[in-house]
Amino acid sequence: MTEERGIAMPSIEKHAETSRNRTGRDYLDLHEWMDKDPLTKIQRHDITKIHEYGQMMLDKYGHEGLQEYLQHIHDDLLARFGHVKEDLEKSVQDTLAYFGVSAKPRKSLPSEYETLLVDLELLSQAGVAPEDVIHCQRVCRKALEIASKIDKPLDYDLIARGGLLHDLGKAKGRADDHGFLGAKIGRSMGLPEEILRIMETHVKAGLTPEEARDAGIPEKDYAPETLEEKIVVYADKLVDIIYSADNVVSSADEAEKRFTEILSTHPKLAKSQKAALRQINNHLEIQSMINSI
Ligand SMILES: [Fe+2]
Repeated sequence: MTEERGIAMPSIEKHAETSRNRTGRDYLDLHEWMDKDPLTKIQRHDITKIHEYGQMMLDKYGHEGLQEYLQHIHDDLLARFGHVKEDLEKSVQDTLAYFGVSAKPRKSLPSEYETLLVDLELLSQAGVAPEDVIHCQRVCRKALEIASKIDKPLDYDLIARGGLLHDLGKAKGRADDHGFLGAKIGRSMGLPEEILRIMETHVKAGLTPEEARDAGIPEKDYAPETLEEKIVVYADKLVDIIYSADNVVSSADEAEKRFTEILSTHPKLAKSQKAALRQINNHLEIQSMINSI
């Protein structure tokens, strides 16, 4: 094991052993390229370079090598965030289950698994605090749960990734501009426009142009429009209620049943009267779709 800020990271030999167990090949030169030179090590683990280095791995080693490169970053991250490891894994497994993908260890990971792992890593590497990463996982799960109760064609992949990444902007702060800032970071990383829209529209269930001006971001209507955007907004608020420090509810069901009352009586959860009204309208719209099944 090697030490990084006092945390035990997997050694090159350990990474090679993991690769050997998974693929039958140790990919030693790949892991040495990642870890051996301390001068290049940080850059080679930089999540923002994943497209550039990923293409390089694909060209040199093929799909399996690309997967081992991603797994190397993943394993390091899990070592670094050991205290949230179980929650990270559970989130990925639960999300996979929603996609109908077997969560058993397999030789070749499905692309959805790789995508979600990269998204989880991206949050942490961008500087989102561990407690906010946990919140993002909860929103991802809750959004998929809500989506599964709605009998309409929905983009589950977008809901999962949007739920996970909606608070990417919290890497820059917790103010009302964090949705806009998250989209800015995401845009620079080449994330799809639909995911950037989820980041921009989730804050206070969609800032008005006036609220946007007050937040210091471009003046426009940030209201969620697509059902995927509205589901993430709803999931975000439900998670806030369910895990509220004030123990507002004792079950997830209660959060949905008492949603209107809670937002009308808890200013901390409502954020503002205008925002509470938008949240309640969104709740009623989504509940009408759930009840109509
Ligand atoms: Fe947020």
